[in-house]
Amino acid sequence: MTSLCLRDKVIVVTGGNSGIGKSIVEAVGGLGAKVVIDYRSHPERTEELIEEIGELGGQAIGVQADVAKLDDLQRLIDTAVKTFGKIDVMVNNAGIETRTSILDTTPEDYDKVMNVNLRGVFFATQFAAKQMIAQGSGGRIINISSVHEDWPMPDNTPYCVAKGGVRMLTRTAGVELASKGVSIVNVGPGAVATPINDSTINNPELLAKLNAAIPMGRMAQPEEIASVVAFLASNGASYMTATSVFADGGIMMSSPGL
Ligand code: BGC
Repeated sequence: MTSLCLRDKVIVVTGGNSGIGKSIVEAVGGLGAKVVIDYRSHPERTEELIEEIGELGGQAIGVQADVAKLDDLQRLIDTAVKTFGKIDVMVNNAGIETRTSILDTTPEDYDKVMNVNLRGVFFATQFAAKQMIAQGSGGRIINISSVHEDWPMPDNTPYCVAKGGVRMLTRTAGVELASKGVSIVNVGPGAVATPINDSTINNPELLAKLNAAIPMGRMAQPEEIASVVAFLASNGASYMTATSVFADGGIMMSSPGL
């Protein structure tokens, strides 16, 4: 029987002190993993989370690092290895969106989204994979992508372009690195009740429209994405690579992009 246990696995989570990332930290920390929480701002939230994981019987540290900066990314990987000796799972969760029409998207908007959502994921994958290969035990990379790696979202083109890139990054690097013991899987959430969706959540009309478009009739709670990630981080997912898994309440199959 393959183990779903995460005890002694070292798991790095980018963007780990809010939204889906925070729930991932809580889920894997609660299952016994040693967690490295990457964050960009709000150190106090990271401190609270570290305490919470400690109370659950887990172990966590925080590293302030901006995934858009390659030096920061390398320092994140190095700190994880210095502290816990290895990296078993790298969760590339940090993500942003600007929600602008392609007609109004500035080069600055474009670069901002790409640097976090695609370039950051690309090089975090490269740096983590090098470490996983060097340590001899291999490892798994889990990218928090989106239904929008495949599904258009008008007025969010840079985001969709980046997520489409992550889809192909996972497929290509997953195939390339499989024989070296590194597997890569995307998790594609649909609409999740996190700060990235505050403008929808706080607009009753928009929220009703969104809920009506989701076959399950509601947004996901972040825990419902984190539990999928916890499974993918376990040895139970040992035969998965170069693919995407969606947790979207059925939305991709039912409606045009919202
Ligand atoms: C986006 C949200 C959007 C959701 C469903 C997510 O990837 O970040 O803004 O509501 O997909 O369309």
